[in-house]
Amino acid sequence: MKIFLDTANLDELKKGARLGVVDGVTTNPSLIAKEGRPLDEQVRMICDIVDGDISAEVVSTEAKGMVREGRKLAAIHKNIVVKAPLTRDGIEATAALSKDGIRVNVTLCFSPTQALLAAKAGAYIVSPFVGRLDDIGAVGMDLIRDIMRIYSNYGFKTQVLTASVRSPVHVIEASLAGSHIATMPYKVLDQLFNHPLTDKGLDQFLKDWAKVFQETPVTG
Ligand code: E4P
Repeated sequence: MKIFLDTANLDELKKGARLGVVDGVTTNPSLIAKEGRPLDEQVRMICDIVDGDISAEVVSTEAKGMVREGRKLAAIHKNIVVKAPLTRDGIEATAALSKDGIRVNVTLCFSPTQALLAAKAGAYIVSPFVGRLDDIGAVGMDLIRDIMRIYSNYGFKTQVLTASVRSPVHVIEASLAGSHIATMPYKVLDQLFNHPLTDKGLDQFLKDWAKVFQETPVTG
């Protein structure tokens, strides 16, 4: 499963990129607004940090505007994936952009029927939001399992990106479901490393090592 970082923050992206396990980045208008720089400048800087798919979202609400914006975004860098919302206009724009060879990530997907439409429109990626479904008392991960099954029934090539990930459990469940990608905040990526037995084991190894090689005086 590919790991994407769900942030537009350059410091977090640099820290993540250093780890060598980050395959791409997702942004959305809220994440870009938090950083305060114009979208094109911010995504250009992101492309310099992470070498992989970088999703940048359109903000128009009608298809024509989305297509116009999508073309401009795609021209910024070869790694840009245009993000469009799962609305009627968003799907129309996805079909038009995909026909032109521009890769589209259809976002704000909350149901299997929406995911089916994204695949039919030729989306490169669909982004079902598991955390926001959990927030309203649904089981977000059921949506990932349903979409994986529907796509496999018909051989759709659209990649399933588990979005709105809030915890390591979401990451485990996404990978068990066969999700192609999971995007997560830096905090969740960092949590994936943690295990008390790793800390305890390493501590013991280093103490045993030090007893023989650092605390015993060298003779002869
Ligand atoms: C996905 O691409 C979205 O940016 C993101 O995962 C939304 O997550 P949130 O529900 O935590 O805002």
